[in-house]
Amino acid sequence: MEPGERVESGDPTVCQGLGMRRGAVAASRPRGPGPRGGRAAAKATVRPGETVLVAGATGGVGQLLAAKLLQKGFRVRALVRDPAKAETLLGAQPALEFVQGDLRSPADLARATAGVEGICCTTGTTAFPSARWKGNNTPEMTDFVGVKNLVNAAPAGLSRFVLVSSVGVERYEQPSPYMILNLFGVLENKKKGEDALVASGVPYTIFRPGRLTDGPYTSYDLNTLLQGIAGERQDVTVALGDCLDGEMSRIALAEGVANAIQFEHTSGQTYCCMSVDGDGPGEDAEKWSAMLMVE
Ligand SMILES: NC(=O)c1ccc[n+]([C@@H]2O[C@H](COP(=O)([O-])OP(=O)(O)OC[C@H]3O[C@@H](n4cnc5c(N)ncnc54)[C@H](OP(=O)(O)O)[C@@H]3O)[C@@H](O)[C@H]2O)c1
Repeated sequence: MEPGERVESGDPTVCQGLGMRRGAVAASRPRGPGPRGGRAAAKATVRPGETVLVAGATGGVGQLLAAKLLQKGFRVRALVRDPAKAETLLGAQPALEFVQGDLRSPADLARATAGVEGICCTTGTTAFPSARWKGNNTPEMTDFVGVKNLVNAAPAGLSRFVLVSSVGVERYEQPSPYMILNLFGVLENKKKGEDALVASGVPYTIFRPGRLTDGPYTSYDLNTLLQGIAGERQDVTVALGDCLDGEMSRIALAEGVANAIQFEHTSGQTYCCMSVDGDGPGEDAEKWSAMLMVE
């Protein structure tokens, strides 16, 4: 099988014949509803020069994504809880602005989303109780309520909303590592956040990565403590639904998101992804386009 070749799969939780093949893409699932409110269809792609809101821009994936979008010529509005911390991490750049806001506060979000063409949500908290839950910043409040608030704040005609979720969101009730991971509801609430996005009618793309590797090491998970890297796993396997396990590089994930907002064919798709041995698409937009292609 070659990168980008299509694989038939009737059950979205099973990647028939996918195994660990590189660049494989399973069959399409039904796409989400069209633009909400019966308005004229918006263009589904975001172009360099347009503004993308990155929620979670102080996080591991969020920092990388903001940097990659800037590098590709987008304007970036970083929605962050602490702008001073964000500026220390991301630096000051002409095409980068910081907006203070918390996803749990709808009043913050209308201001943050005004005038943006794209929204990328990379926020999250820890799966198990930790200091990150301070002030009730639990999985329910971030991964569900917060995401739903951000979806509701999407401006009319938004071209694309990309949500970074997780593998396991459709499998947390099955005996699996995901059942343990979901003991405090993280996967269940990520799925509810996804559902709110899909039901909204906003053009969307959802990424469900495996356990994240590569820095910046900002979260509290085991791979962060061990500073896990993708190493020789520079290639990526992508499938639709929730059928992959393993690990995913934050660098490749951020690159995938920064590419996906530019392709019409990624609208309405939910991808799971993992890093695998090989050279991979790197920053090659054509390779990402093929990898994310479905009929
Ligand atoms: N770690 C894994 O192995 C793994 C696996 C699969 C999926 N994921 C998911 O992948 C995504 C990215 O992961 P990551 O490791 O890059 O995340 P991360 O480093 O933990 O970053 C989380 C980000 O969310 C922000 N945030 C948290 N609560 C917020 C709130 N109430 N309002 C606004 N911002 C808030 C944080 O801001 P502050 O800087 O202000 O705290 C931070 O920028 C997350 O959704 C994560 O759950 C992770």
